Amino acid sequence: MRSVDKSVKELLSGEGKNIPLFKVFMPESILEPLGKVLMSGYIGEGPRVEEFEHQLGELWFDNNNVLAVNNGTAALQLALRLAGVGHNDEVISTAMTCSATNEPIMAMGAKIIWADIDPWTANIDPEDVARKITPKTKAIMCVHWGGYPCDLDELNAIAAKHKIKLIEDACHSFGSTYQGKPIGSHSDFACFSFQAIKHMTTIDGGALVCKSEADCEKGRLLRWYGIDRKSKRKDLRCEADIIEYGYKFHMNDVTATIGLEQLKYVADTIKKHQANATIYNEAFSDLKTVRPLRYKDNRRSAYWLYTMRVKDRCKFMEHMKKMGITVSQVHARNDMHTMFKDFRAELPGVDEFISEQISIPVGWWLTDEDLTTIVNAVVEYDHSCCATIQEISNPSS
Ligand SMILES: Cc1ncc(COP(=O)(O)O)c(C=O)c1O
Repeated sequence: MRSVDKSVKELLSGEGKNIPLFKVFMPESILEPLGKVLMSGYIGEGPRVEEFEHQLGELWFDNNNVLAVNNGTAALQLALRLAGVGHNDEVISTAMTCSATNEPIMAMGAKIIWADIDPWTANIDPEDVARKITPKTKAIMCVHWGGYPCDLDELNAIAAKHKIKLIEDACHSFGSTYQGKPIGSHSDFACFSFQAIKHMTTIDGGALVCKSEADCEKGRLLRWYGIDRKSKRKDLRCEADIIEYGYKFHMNDVTATIGLEQLKYVADTIKKHQANATIYNEAFSDLKTVRPLRYKDNRRSAYWLYTMRVKDRCKFMEHMKKMGITVSQVHARNDMHTMFKDFRAELPGVDEFISEQISIPVGWWLTDEDLTTIVNAVVEYDHSCCATIQEISNPSS
């Protein structure tokens, strides 16, 4: 059997001496319900999926139009389909994200129009979005970088004005809030991911949350080949007439069982991420060469990531590595990928952000000792950097 690359193992599982950037949360209490469902004789989409959707809607989204799907990318593609995005339509999106945000736009045969970002939040800039609307625009895609919500009032106002749809890629932001209300309750569509290293995982999984019940009902058909699972059938296996083609995007009862168990813990997980971020915000507020992103008070990040801007990032990365702390830029700017070459645009906000951005560990797994190590390492970097800058500008002193 091929052995897993050691550095990947270290990064993702926390094995080895480094403080990991990500870690899979998997409580042992999962084993009993998982064993039961595996041996139950029913492992497809069934009552566990329905219960998972119900709990997500009631406890987390303040919205019961929830469709559990097999990953966040599927949720995004389903949202684009429901938004009516098709061949040669335009979708305004952000380059500062996981490529999984934008690949589904390509899959629909649509064109991506990049809008710039705010270089101090990494979120899409509503003013640039407004400038880029054309008669061909069908949807706006926004991403809540690291969990920090975008300017949803402004984006929803643009979408309403032009009668187009706003799709939130909320794959970083389970548990974030905007104007006191949970992400998932604001726009036409919000798409979540429960892949391995998110606040909660179903191994792979996702959810599409729709504003309208009609979209949700249509999405329910499309996530399973366009087939109405509840319709009366003449034969056990043969479905009634299929009106529109669909996908195989549904969640199954095994992964939903994992999700139901994870839901018992996720509030504490998010609290821990937020508490760790508060420690960093205070510790780094006066630093000169390492600066936290600039967040407003009317929204709260669930801090899947803690991203900062640093001077001389390569040096910072080397320093953190030496201190045994894993850091990463997490996502590459999407617009430079060959697959998106037809959509190139000037994006000064992305240029500015990408030159300095870095994420440090912030998650539930950090001990008090880890937090002290990280804070000290960052502060030490800043002090050494400031001393160098001073030496360069005042060589004689
Ligand atoms: C911003 C963003 N969008 C979409 C996705 C895709 O989610 P999934 O891996 O569940 O398909 C991810 C995955 O990490 C993501 O970070």
